[in-house]
Amino acid sequence: KIIVLDFGSQYNQLITRRIRDFGIYSELLPHDLSIEKIKQINPKGIIFSGGPNSVYDDGALKVDPAIFKLGIPILGICYGMQLMSYDLGGKVEQAENKEYGRANITVEDSDSILFKGLPSKQYVWMSHGDLVTQAPKGFEVTASSKNCPIAAIANPAKKFYGIQFHAEVRNSEYGLDILKHFAFDVCGAAANWTMNDFIDMKVDEIRKEVGDKKVILGLSGGVDSSVTATLLHKAIGDQLTAIFVDHGMLRKDEGDQVMQALNKDLGVNIIRVNAQERFLNKLKGVTDPERKRKIIGKEFIEVFNEEAKKIKDVDFLAQGTLYTDVIESGTNTAQTIKSHHNVGGLPKDMHFKLIEPLRKLFKDEVRELGEKLGIPHDLVWRQPFPGPGLGIRVLGEVTEPKLKIVRESDAILRDEIKKAGLQEKIWQYFTVLPGIRSVGVMGDGRTYDYTIGIRAVTSIDGMTADFTKIPWDVLGHISDRIVNEVDNVNRVVYDVTSKPPSTIEWE
Ligand code: XMP
Repeated sequence: KIIVLDFGSQYNQLITRRIRDFGIYSELLPHDLSIEKIKQINPKGIIFSGGPNSVYDDGALKVDPAIFKLGIPILGICYGMQLMSYDLGGKVEQAENKEYGRANITVEDSDSILFKGLPSKQYVWMSHGDLVTQAPKGFEVTASSKNCPIAAIANPAKKFYGIQFHAEVRNSEYGLDILKHFAFDVCGAAANWTMNDFIDMKVDEIRKEVGDKKVILGLSGGVDSSVTATLLHKAIGDQLTAIFVDHGMLRKDEGDQVMQALNKDLGVNIIRVNAQERFLNKLKGVTDPERKRKIIGKEFIEVFNEEAKKIKDVDFLAQGTLYTDVIESGTNTAQTIKSHHNVGGLPKDMHFKLIEPLRKLFKDEVRELGEKLGIPHDLVWRQPFPGPGLGIRVLGEVTEPKLKIVRESDAILRDEIKKAGLQEKIWQYFTVLPGIRSVGVMGDGRTYDYTIGIRAVTSIDGMTADFTKIPWDVLGHISDRIVNEVDNVNRVVYDVTSKPPSTIEWE
C-alpha cells in the first residue's frame, strides 16, 4: 500500500488512481494524518500531493516532521516537493516566472532511479508559482528546466524524492514511468492488488460500520447508485433497502432491466415506486427547462423521503457519490470548482449517517467494480443519462404521448448503433422531440406530424463535445425505422453542432 497525503491539488486522486492501476492499493488521506496512524497503516511509501498553498504562508498545510524519521520512502510532487525541501532545510521562493503548462526538462542524472532508462529531455506538466531554489542537504538535483533549475531532487540514502512537475497527468510524457519507478524500485511494492481486494476491504468496512443497523439508498437506475446498492447488499444483505423512484422518464425497459439485474438476479432488496403520474401532474403546463429540472429533482427527493419514512429505525443513508462529485464540490483542502448536485440528495429533515463507499473511485473503476459484483456488462457500461431523464428530451411540456415518442425512437437509435458496432465509439447518443410539426406524405396521404432530432457526440468528460460523424447509411436506416415504426413522426433531423456553442442535451 502506498498512501498519498492530500495538500489540496486538483490532481491528488489521480495519483492514487495511477498507483492502483499498477496493481498497488493506494488511497488519499489527510495531510495531517498522525504519525501513529501512519505507523499503523505501515505503507510501503508515502506521496505528498501538490497543493495551492505556499509553504511559507500562514496556515500552509504541513506534515508532522516526524514523518521524515519513519524510514518510509517519500515522493513529494509540486507543493509536496517544496514542503519536503522546506522542512529539511532547503529554500523555497516565489518564482519570477510562474509556470503553467508544458515544459521541457533535462535529466541531470540519468542514473537517478526515478529517471532510469528514460530520455534525458522530456515534456512534463508544470503548474506552480513557487519553486525550490536550494535543495536540502543530502539531496542532489536530478532534473532541471529553463524556468525551474531545480525540477527534481533525490536523496537516495533516505529514499526521499521530489519532482516539481505533475507526473500523474498524461501531459507528462514519462510521468507513469516515473511513478512506477518510485512505487516498484524505490518502495519495493508488489503488484498484487485487484478490484476483488477492494470489494473485500469495503465489505469489511461496511459491516464494521453498520453493525446490525438498517441502511436505505436512493436508486436512480444509474451506474453509481446501482453499484453502491450491490456492494452494500454483498456486505449487509437485507439490512439494505433500496428505494427505486421510477419517475417514468427512464429509457425504454430500463426500469425493468434494473429490477431484473439487481433485484431478481442479485437479490438486492428494492422497493420500486412507480411515480410517473405524480411527476407528470407536477410537470403539467410547465415549459421552462430550468423549472422542469427543478420540479423533477424536488419531486424525486419528496417521493424518496415519503418511502424512507415508512421504513422504521434506519440509521444510515448510502449514496453513490464518486470522486468526481467530491472534488467538484470542494473538499477540505481542494478549492471549489462548482457545487455538484446529486439527484436524490440527502433529505434535509432526516438525520442519517452517510455511507459513500465509492467516494475514492473514478467512473471507470466503478464500472469495473460493478462487473466484478455481477452486474451485467450492458448495464454497467451504459452511456451517461441525465437525472431528469427523458423529461428534458421532450422539449416544452412533458406528456406521456410525447415521452412515448422519445422512448420508442431512442430505443431504435440505440438498437441500430449497437448493430453498426458503434456503441462503444460514441460517448452519448439519444433522440429529442422538439415539438415542432411539419408536413409529410405517407402512402397517398398528407401527414402533419412531429420531427425527431438525433444527437450523437464524442466527448471525454461532457464538458466539451464534438458531434459524431455517423455514416450516412446508418443514419438513413435509423431514420427509416423511426418514421416507419414510431407513430406521429414523419421527419428525422441530425444535430450537427458541437459543445460549445450548443450543449449536449437540448434543454
Ligand atoms: P450538457 O447538456 O450540459 O450535458 O452539455 C453534459 C452532460 O451532463 C449530462 N446531464 C446531466 N446529468 N443530471 C445529470 O446527472 C443532470 O441534471 C444533467 N443534465 C445534463 C448530459 O446528459 C451530458 O452527458
